[in-house]
Amino acid sequence: MTFASQESIMESFNRAGQKQVFTYFDSLSEQGQRKLINQLAKIEDPVNLVHTVEEAIQYSSSSSARDFTQLPEESTASTVGLDSETQAHWSQLGFEAIAQGEVAVLLMAGGQGTRLGSNEPKGCFDIQLPSHKSLFQTQAEKILKIEKLTQHQQKTGEKQPRIMWYIMTSGPTRESTETFFQKNNYFGLSPNQVKFFNQGTLPCFDLKGEKILLASQDSICESPDGNGGLYKALLVNGILDDMVAKGIKHIHAYCVDNSLVKVADPLFIGFAIDRKFDLATKVVRKRDANESVGLIVLNDDLKRPCVIEYSEISQALAEKKDPQDPSKLFLRAANIVNHYYSVDLLTKMIPKWTTSQEYLPFHIAKKKIPSMNLKSNEFYKPTEPNGIKLEQFIFDVFPSVELSKFGCLEVARSDEFSPLKNADGAQNDTPTTCRLHYLKRSTEWIKKNGGLLQNQDDLVEVSPLTSYFGEDLEIVKGKTFKNGDVI
Ligand code: UD1
Repeated sequence: MTFASQESIMESFNRAGQKQVFTYFDSLSEQGQRKLINQLAKIEDPVNLVHTVEEAIQYSSSSSARDFTQLPEESTASTVGLDSETQAHWSQLGFEAIAQGEVAVLLMAGGQGTRLGSNEPKGCFDIQLPSHKSLFQTQAEKILKIEKLTQHQQKTGEKQPRIMWYIMTSGPTRESTETFFQKNNYFGLSPNQVKFFNQGTLPCFDLKGEKILLASQDSICESPDGNGGLYKALLVNGILDDMVAKGIKHIHAYCVDNSLVKVADPLFIGFAIDRKFDLATKVVRKRDANESVGLIVLNDDLKRPCVIEYSEISQALAEKKDPQDPSKLFLRAANIVNHYYSVDLLTKMIPKWTTSQEYLPFHIAKKKIPSMNLKSNEFYKPTEPNGIKLEQFIFDVFPSVELSKFGCLEVARSDEFSPLKNADGAQNDTPTTCRLHYLKRSTEWIKKNGGLLQNQDDLVEVSPLTSYFGEDLEIVKGKTFKNGDVI
């Protein structure tokens, strides 16, 4: 770092009204000064950044004014009551694509899981299944099982198809995630098929969105740039190039925190292939007006798909009843962050999505951000929100896809969605609810296949290595199982 560039960096932050970041500068060692300047140097245009925060604050308070309705029928389908012919057809298309090496899985695991209150990345979390498998392990085993099923179904002989697993981490989750995989021998996957890459970070601001917070005397507070940082991260880390080079055509992207996620679901991939969608999503029926889920809807002005996030919807719109059937909410297609992308779409659109904020605006989240109190010169951990984190949302690019190229597949909540968001004690989305939903689904499969339970309420765990969606369980017929058994 030359003196001139240090000067220009200091000057650009002063110009942006951020001179507080240099409060302790003169008293820092040379090393401390260099550390701070290097961190600040990563922010290209501080004036623009401050302007972006102002816009984000405005954007977050205006979104309920837009005109939203349900997606048209042509864009949707449901696995609930789906005829067996279509089901088989879509699954077949998915398995074919996997056998050709055209399918990869993309995991978003950069979140800090503050609501859960765990210091470890969420994927390492043990929801206390009898096997004590972590979320990462169950997801890895689903990939292994789908590879096996494809081998069998597509008669690939000795050759086991390979599904690449791209895992997006962030500064706070990278090291512990990678170490966890190494310690656990990649859960039986080949290390070559797992690729970690980092998303970017953004500075944290005070509640008014005016001043960058300091994490220490020689560093500013930063946080991951939201799961919408995925697109830039795919580009700058060469992941998209890697996908193209490997001949991958279809991506299943999902969030780490769903204990029932169907990783690399052939039916979902086949649904998108069959209907020639560039982008598709899975949804479940929203539980009630206050569930913390985004809604997949139609922006009626633009005639484009979009998502209204739970943090930005008005109470009136959240509670609005369906005029066709007042027993249901009008907007009820709950986003479970299972997305299909064609690699063609990503190749064409990512350069655009990542160069204009028109596609990926910043949203604000008010958070408790441990930081320096510049009056007392002490580091403190606030008990109330004291600042703003900036985040991009993965789904904000949806309106750039034509409606005819966008699909929405409704799936059964009990089969596919039980998220881990809160610590035990909360009403929903806790380790306990995740465990119960996982075990209930497994136990249903056992009963369907003629297995018996010692006590009526006993819950049994089925390993993903044994069964992915309830198949291959003929072995349980006539046998009796009890609480805590693992099959
Ligand atoms: C998310 C969805 C919401 C959906 C809900 C379902 C977004 C923006 N919101 O909300 O519409 O109904 O899940 O459970 O997608 N992540 C990163 N980097 C980040 C932030 C998050 O990789 O910087 C990852 C997390 O690790 C997690 C996922 O994104 O896998 C979701 O993150 P989280 O912030 O918990 O989303 P929700 O607010 O629950």
